[in-house]
Amino acid sequence: MNILLLGGGGREHALAWKMAQSPLLGKLHAAPGNPGIAGHAQCHALELTDHPAVIAFCNDNAIDLVVVGPEAPLVDGLGDSLRSAGISVFGPSQAAAQLEGSKGFTKDLCARAGIPTAGYVRCTNKADALAALAGFGLPVVIKADGLAAGKGVVIADTAADARAAITDMFAGDFGPNAVGHGAEIVIEEFMTGEEVSLFALTDGATIVAFGSAQDHKRVGDGDTGPNTGGMGAYSPARVLTPALEQEAITRIIAPTVKAMAEAGTPYSGVLFAGLMLTPDGPRLIEYNARFGDPECQVLMLRLTSDLVELLSAVAENRLAAIAPPAFSPETALTVVMAATGYPGTPVKGGMIADIAVAEAGGAKVFQAGTFRDATNVLRASGGRVLNVSATGASVLAARDAAYHAVDAIDFADGFCRRDIGWREIARETD
Ligand code: AMP
Ligand code: GLY
Repeated sequence: MNILLLGGGGREHALAWKMAQSPLLGKLHAAPGNPGIAGHAQCHALELTDHPAVIAFCNDNAIDLVVVGPEAPLVDGLGDSLRSAGISVFGPSQAAAQLEGSKGFTKDLCARAGIPTAGYVRCTNKADALAALAGFGLPVVIKADGLAAGKGVVIADTAADARAAITDMFAGDFGPNAVGHGAEIVIEEFMTGEEVSLFALTDGATIVAFGSAQDHKRVGDGDTGPNTGGMGAYSPARVLTPALEQEAITRIIAPTVKAMAEAGTPYSGVLFAGLMLTPDGPRLIEYNARFGDPECQVLMLRLTSDLVELLSAVAENRLAAIAPPAFSPETALTVVMAATGYPGTPVKGGMIADIAVAEAGGAKVFQAGTFRDATNVLRASGGRVLNVSATGASVLAARDAAYHAVDAIDFADGFCRRDIGWREIARETD
């Protein structure tokens, strides 16, 4: 089977690495890919917003399956364009990707289906939003409706902060990557508890659990500083016990998949649920229509099943016909090395060396934001640069192995958190 993998971050390097282990794989292509992905795939410059160009590429290269890594092409309807051209896609349709692309859409679906989530109000103008604040306690959560490149959520501790966030959002103040900003916001009740990520594969009818993880979103140790795309993760997240996972599937994921199918917009792909483990049980924070980054990296390290078989079964609506995914009981942990300055303006071009030294002890280094210069030297291209990953019998063992590898890497312009896995390690060593 020839596969085109779309994306060029650490998530896609992990997917490429795992797909490359499959006997079902013919040739792997990636667009745009990165130097890590290039170890497993032929990389191409393809404009993903140019749907006819992507379709032409698939036809020219006898592509049997397109695997979409990031959310933007999904929300942009690339999956629909490819399917209309008769090409199999792992990733939801534009209508189904609204589960990530529109917070208001997801909240309304939850309300209709009785799915546990935070109480909310959708507002399309500033005056209504300011008036709606009176119905919420503090802190209160204010969210821009569309994809906002990670900047669309404000947790306001005071009414003045909430009013300021509302004013900013209706001014469309979410940077050049924001989609749909300024049009609508959602105000939400603040939920307390520990956050975990739960993944499920579905072809729109069959649902199979695909592992759990815990991300570390703040840039600094001890969960301090600004939010990022994720500074590290580990899997499984044992705080999501088998009983809680089953509850989340039964009460949150299954009714979502059913509601999407009943609406005539079945969801096909990976459904990534951000959950809050509240005193009343798991409640949905948000959905993503793709694998998490860096959560995908730790899932791929633990997956023992054939990824190509799973992704193609999802794309071809035959998930019920294959064995459910299996995972190693070991813990996998990944530490993100980012360029100095991230999540603000990162230093670009920093030299990276000794990945092979780091991997010699059994660790795996996924490349997220790297490029090779004219003399073939590996350099940092963006915010999150490397995902230094390891497995172990416990979170503590996986963490020690991952940091041992981090310390072997020469990346003077990089930094990382030193406390990935701290919540679970505190429980393990209690
Ligand atoms: P989101 O982009 O919706 O995942 O939100 C980003 C982060 O904001 C989440 O990971 C949570 O830490 C926090 N958050 C979002 N919604 C809520 C909520 N209703 N209550 C508490 N925290 C929230
Ligand atoms: N690491 C969080 C995300 O991928 O959205």
